[in-house]
Amino acid sequence: MERTARASASVAQVHWARLSDGREVAIKIQKPEIEKQIWWDLFAFKTVTKVYTWWFDLPLYAMVPFITERLQLETDFENEAKNSERMRDLINNEPGLRGRVYVPPVYPELSSKRVLTTEWIEGVRLWDKDALTGPWIGGYGKGSAGVHGAQLNPPDMNSIRRELRENPNSQSLKPERMEWKGPRGKGGLGLSTRDVMTTMVDLFSAQIFKWGVVHCDPHPGNIFIRRLPNGYPELVLIDHGLYVYMSEKFRREYGEFWKSLMTFDNKRIAEITAEWGIKAADLFASATLLRPYEGGSGEFKNQMLSQLDAKKTASERHYEMQKRMKQGVRDVLADEDKWPKELIFIGRNMRIVQGNNQYLGSPVNRVKMMGEWASRSLFEDPNRSWRERAGHMYRHMLFKGVLFLSDVAFYFFKMRQWLGRGGGMEDEVEARMRTVAKEFGVELQHDVFEG
Ligand SMILES: Nc1ncnc2c1ncn2[C@@H]1O[C@H](COP(=O)(O)OP(=O)(O)O)[C@@H](O)[C@H]1O
Ligand SMILES: [Mg+2]
Repeated sequence: MERTARASASVAQVHWARLSDGREVAIKIQKPEIEKQIWWDLFAFKTVTKVYTWWFDLPLYAMVPFITERLQLETDFENEAKNSERMRDLINNEPGLRGRVYVPPVYPELSSKRVLTTEWIEGVRLWDKDALTGPWIGGYGKGSAGVHGAQLNPPDMNSIRRELRENPNSQSLKPERMEWKGPRGKGGLGLSTRDVMTTMVDLFSAQIFKWGVVHCDPHPGNIFIRRLPNGYPELVLIDHGLYVYMSEKFRREYGEFWKSLMTFDNKRIAEITAEWGIKAADLFASATLLRPYEGGSGEFKNQMLSQLDAKKTASERHYEMQKRMKQGVRDVLADEDKWPKELIFIGRNMRIVQGNNQYLGSPVNRVKMMGEWASRSLFEDPNRSWRERAGHMYRHMLFKGVLFLSDVAFYFFKMRQWLGRGGGMEDEVEARMRTVAKEFGVELQHDVFEG
């Protein structure tokens, strides 16, 4: 085992090690003071939320127990192992994802509440765009190291033992495997960012709409990319500490909600949001799409705009908007008992995946892909009667027609991007979201989701 950690994050550090049978593993070890530290962090969080709830009369405190519980579970690696194995099974039983997505197996006999041992992953990080797209010089029909969980190049254990005998503190245990970079370091995996993002959006849509088991920390540090022998990417997902398990009922409602957003089915949107104890359907619809929802009555926006009375001073207007905005939050969180707390973390997942897509230059139409998954999951749901499924199938067909229009918009933005006249659709969407939010007197602070 290497003495120096290969990675050190907030709760743990990760070491490379080799088992006596030659397998390479990652050992994630929780730092000793974490449990206490988390307790203080959560205490501070609770206090601040309580003050906010009381001072601004916003029903935020209702979220606290759920959030606290999720965050506390992150320090229990037995829980992480359980989530990880569950995700591995779900993926391996999903014909559309098996072989495209990989979750490293956990070695339970070498794990505990504070130590997690998994297969070591070789791969390129999502943020290394050059390495993802640089030319592949690893040979035709060959994939990158460790792809599909293949044994990494067999170790010469004798030479390792000799090295360790002579130099017990040796740090040169792990083979670096940088051959694919080529002699001048210009080589890469030769992948298309579009294929990478397609795999990613497929994966997280399946989690949300099909399985109801959602990894809520999909930031680039938790995603490795490798090259399959056929030239397509393999996505490796790690860090399964923060999960949300959706109830069957909520998962279906959520799928219908998404589909309704895309078909402007305002009646169904109103029904579902009412079921969730949400009064401000329009505002919530925009928060879900991460872009202004234009199918609704626009009531909220009109109320906001009516505050733009020319006779008022800037600070009066600002005050009015703040007041409306707070009322908006109150209306979204109208009924704390009905409000599905899972939405907080699902929103987080979607915002991070949007960020990943943006980072790679918006190569895919994420909103459309998610809508399609939502619709397909409804008619493929084996727990429903054939009648219900047939109805959903018919609507799925109609829906595909509507999605075609969304594609037209997507390629319009792509074309503009090519001509150097603006960003891709995700950039456009975010810019518009910011503008609308500003009209409402709010500066969006998306950076808080990073890390
Ligand atoms: N199986 C693995 N193979 C290779 N590196 C890993 C593996 N697991 C974790 N790491 C490295 O350790 C880092 C932190 O691990 P992670 O599970 O994400 O912990 P945290 O919850 O602290 O973010 C990762 O970003 C990655 O660089
Ligand atoms: Mg991590």
